[in-house]
Amino acid sequence: MGNDTFKRYTVTAALPYTNGPVHIGHLAGVYIPADIYVRFLRSTGKDVIFVSGSDEHGVPITLKARNEGVSPQEIVDKYHKIIGDSFKDFGIAFNIYHRTSSQTHHDTASGFFKTLYDKGVFVEEETEQYFDEHAGQFLADRYIIGTCPKCGNEEAYGDQCEKCGSSLSPTELINPRSTLSGAKPVLKKTKNWFLPLDTMQPQIEAYIDLHKDWKPNVYGQCKSWLSGGLNPRAMTRDLDWGVQVPVEGADGKVLYVWFDAPIGYISGTKDLCDPDLSAEKITDYYLNESLKPKDNWEKYWYAEDTKLVHFIGKDNIVFHCIIFPAMLMAHGQFQLADNVPANEFLNLEGDKISTSRNWAVWLHEYLQDFPDKQDVLRYVLTATAPETKDNDFTWKDFQARNNNELVAIFGNFVNRVLVLSHKYFDGQVVMGSDFSDTDLNVMQELKDYPSKIAASIEQYRFREALSEFMNLARLGNKYLADAEPWKLIKTDEERVKTILNIGLQIASNLAILAQPFLPFSSQKLFKMLNLEVQDWDKAGTLNLLPLGHQLNEATLLFEKIEDSEIDAQIQKLMDSKIVNEQAAMKAEEAKPNVSFEQFSAMDIRIGTILEAEKVAKTKKLLKLKIDTGLDQRIIVSGIAEYYEPEEIIGKQVSVLINLEPREIKGILSQGMILMAENSDGNLSFVAPSAGIKNGSVVR
Ligand code: MF3
Ligand code: ZN
Repeated sequence: MGNDTFKRYTVTAALPYTNGPVHIGHLAGVYIPADIYVRFLRSTGKDVIFVSGSDEHGVPITLKARNEGVSPQEIVDKYHKIIGDSFKDFGIAFNIYHRTSSQTHHDTASGFFKTLYDKGVFVEEETEQYFDEHAGQFLADRYIIGTCPKCGNEEAYGDQCEKCGSSLSPTELINPRSTLSGAKPVLKKTKNWFLPLDTMQPQIEAYIDLHKDWKPNVYGQCKSWLSGGLNPRAMTRDLDWGVQVPVEGADGKVLYVWFDAPIGYISGTKDLCDPDLSAEKITDYYLNESLKPKDNWEKYWYAEDTKLVHFIGKDNIVFHCIIFPAMLMAHGQFQLADNVPANEFLNLEGDKISTSRNWAVWLHEYLQDFPDKQDVLRYVLTATAPETKDNDFTWKDFQARNNNELVAIFGNFVNRVLVLSHKYFDGQVVMGSDFSDTDLNVMQELKDYPSKIAASIEQYRFREALSEFMNLARLGNKYLADAEPWKLIKTDEERVKTILNIGLQIASNLAILAQPFLPFSSQKLFKMLNLEVQDWDKAGTLNLLPLGHQLNEATLLFEKIEDSEIDAQIQKLMDSKIVNEQAAMKAEEAKPNVSFEQFSAMDIRIGTILEAEKVAKTKKLLKLKIDTGLDQRIIVSGIAEYYEPEEIIGKQVSVLINLEPREIKGILSQGMILMAENSDGNLSFVAPSAGIKNGSVVR
């Protein structure tokens, strides 16, 4: 269907798991492109709803709850709030940010399952699934890890290998282990309901084949899935956190999280379009009252003239292009996605972003550190978006793009035009002599920008769209720099009037065209121009500001970011790197058992260091005189790299006193000081935690 034939748009953004906050990878991959697309459509007057919400079921959440010793509900409440608030502050303009723990969602997901069940879509089958006998639980999805049969990654999950992206089932894992107890699981029979993707393959294939226009990475992944042959997939799980399976004989079972989560788009739409939504229901959601949809929810999902677009990250492709469409087909009433513009991944300072390793720039922290710089991050993440390949975010690049592009080009241009207009003409829009050739050329060029940018956005090429937008700002900047009105003002005021008029008209065009990308700056600019927000179709002309129009005061659109701010961010990352390195250091392997007699044969006492001096001509050795409580004796110890002699005098230590004496560098060493060795090689005394008498026995 051509674009013109669509009457409305349903745009979804992947529901983030509520097991952690949102980071720049999520933003660059999903939420910023989706937001640009939606804001663009809205500014062209389209009927569009933008739906997302929290994905509150699934194993990552129950695992996190378990690790922190709290209930899953506490986890999802916490992150739903953090994520929802940060999206709001960042200006992601959802009509609704919903949640899958809501009643509407449970009812919708459960009803959807029941419909498929009643139609006889599912294959009911008793299969052997892995079971953890220690934990007394079946091990679906992320409850189980093992070696990926496709790429050999030893940490592949039961549902997916994050290294090669393959979707897996637990029984495919080589050498499986339980993430709950580490135990080797056993196979146990259980009944589940399967979506027969195998028999549905021809239908699914036909659907994908209609969409050769999808991004090559998306289309390619689908084709490779299909060529591998689809397998039936269980849509239920033996777990207790999730949507109850609404059929008989399904006690203790919930819907597979990838069955329930995408239905979240539908349940979100239902609440959004519900005119009588009860007040207490709304409080948990983020519902934008000013963006009330025109139609009932069914129109946004059933009508043929609705265009459905899913914004997701590349790890979600199979679920949105194959499994969810298969569910919708089986149901029968729904439209299928027209496009699924999935992005690749964003890395951070050369390393994969990771929630568990705290290697991320968290949105809520960014907003604390840079409370009025939403647009800077939006700009940088769009300019470097991983649209066709993985990409890297660095703080230096962030700073450079702000200072050299936003400040030096867009901000500088707007500021100059406004400041000069105030300085020379009291902030009034004026017009002077006839247009020069340069003026006419600039006006001609300007005319093409709105449609160029629109075309890129419609094709989901947001980087390209943004760079076209910046080209217009560059054009304005160059026009002004070449025309030099600040020089001409002394000799040719009429000419300056014309130059500033054109400059101001370009600035108003920029305000319109900035809306999808830089919504905060666009607002600010409209305000400075004393202009109502204008729709997209007003752009491209030079009559946005009538003669005599009064401008508001000029303020800065963007400010320079100093090295110190960037250094602080880099330091934050370095800190988490250190924490990670420490956590990653593996303890030495255990030694074979010893008997109690063997242990008690060692005579270990508490002693005090009386004297310490370096052993001449060595780097590592200190000669220590120790009061062992029994005697005073000399011990040579290899700790000179870790302690200065004077700092250890008077310290209590543990001493093995019956170690066979031996000569070291000509000194007879009578015993050994016990040291704990960190895996980075650093040594530290093993000392009593409280003062204790010399000669006390360690046992
Ligand atoms: N929670 C999933 C993730 O973060 C995405 C779910 S998208 C939905 O990868 F379609 F299922 F909602
Ligand atoms: Zn793999």
